[in-house]
Amino acid sequence: MGKNYLCHIVCALLLVSCTSSGKYDSFTPGRTWEDTDGVHINAHGGGILYHDGKYYWYGEHKSENTSSALVGVNVYSSEDLYNWKKEGVALSVMPEGSGHKIEKGCIIERPKVVYNRKTDKFVMWFHLELKGMGYSAAEYGVAVSDSPEGPFEFLYAQRSCPGIWPVNMTEEEISAAKAITQADLDSDRRHDYVVAGAWLARDIEGGQMSRDMTVFVDDDGTAYHIFASEENQTLHVARLTDDYLYHDGVYARVLPGKSNEAPAIFKKDGVYWMITSGCTGWSPNPARLSCATDIMGEWTSYPNPCSGPDAEITFGAQSTFVLPVHGKKDCWIFMADIWTPDRPIDARYVWLPVTFGEDGVPELVWRDSWSLDDMYAR
Ligand code: DGJ
Repeated sequence: MGKNYLCHIVCALLLVSCTSSGKYDSFTPGRTWEDTDGVHINAHGGGILYHDGKYYWYGEHKSENTSSALVGVNVYSSEDLYNWKKEGVALSVMPEGSGHKIEKGCIIERPKVVYNRKTDKFVMWFHLELKGMGYSAAEYGVAVSDSPEGPFEFLYAQRSCPGIWPVNMTEEEISAAKAITQADLDSDRRHDYVVAGAWLARDIEGGQMSRDMTVFVDDDGTAYHIFASEENQTLHVARLTDDYLYHDGVYARVLPGKSNEAPAIFKKDGVYWMITSGCTGWSPNPARLSCATDIMGEWTSYPNPCSGPDAEITFGAQSTFVLPVHGKKDCWIFMADIWTPDRPIDARYVWLPVTFGEDGVPELVWRDSWSLDDMYAR
């Protein structure tokens, strides 16, 4: 049997999720996912925007040997969520040696794009680490474009809300946080002091750390930036200005001291649901679920929503986004990344439907293969 013939049989077997026209008609979580050019999709830690009949998937371009940004943020488009066309690089890094905040070799993670009706602009938020500084800068970056495909123009990057205390701390709590000493942090009550705001007080002047993140646009058009702050110990929810370009100075601490990363949010029947991970670097850990009726809190924790093989490590993946399916009531897709730090470009995607138990609590049930028609034929 000729090599080519064998190769065709293997390809046919691998592409069981494709239609006869060669197009995908189902999701196969954890498997290679090719774009319309036949190249594995390169849009990690991503987020999706639906605009004018098309979905746009923005994500980190990853290279073969490094997770640092050598290219920038990729964008793909799709009308059916299965088949994705590469549109190009939405946000490009700046040349090496330019000294620019997004100079080639920096770290750009978890880009999310929202559309602002008032300004008719597309606004990208992302986690930025400056070149050569590891994860110590802990900034967010903002870029803007007139079109969903880009190019996005970098606006600025900084830490969050310098000089401003969260709205959900009392004067007494602020005074107590300010009074925390190194001796307190060296004591066996260190975690209590972290919960009380040790890192918040430390960073108040220069601004709060901002790492893993998402952006959520509420029903009334108000947008929020949700990010891991305070040495990844505490999430912050920061409200954005009407143009979605800046924090407006109102923010809350959420789940203090609980070490949540990788936030992904959706809202059903007036209730906000958030899926996060713990903090174990590139290694997977159990997903966490929390809910709130006010996005600024209180948030209540629920058990790991995953079930099926490897449910205790989120199927080997880490949350990045919960995608509302356009035109389908109460349909959301949980999106997560299976990181491959030894060869970052190979990282895979886990997309699963969000289902709900009898108690109305979201569930993520493993499926080898599934389609929107199977799930949402209602
Ligand atoms: C976990 C985060 O969720 C990822 O985005 C990335 O920052 C890795 N940590 C780096 O170790």
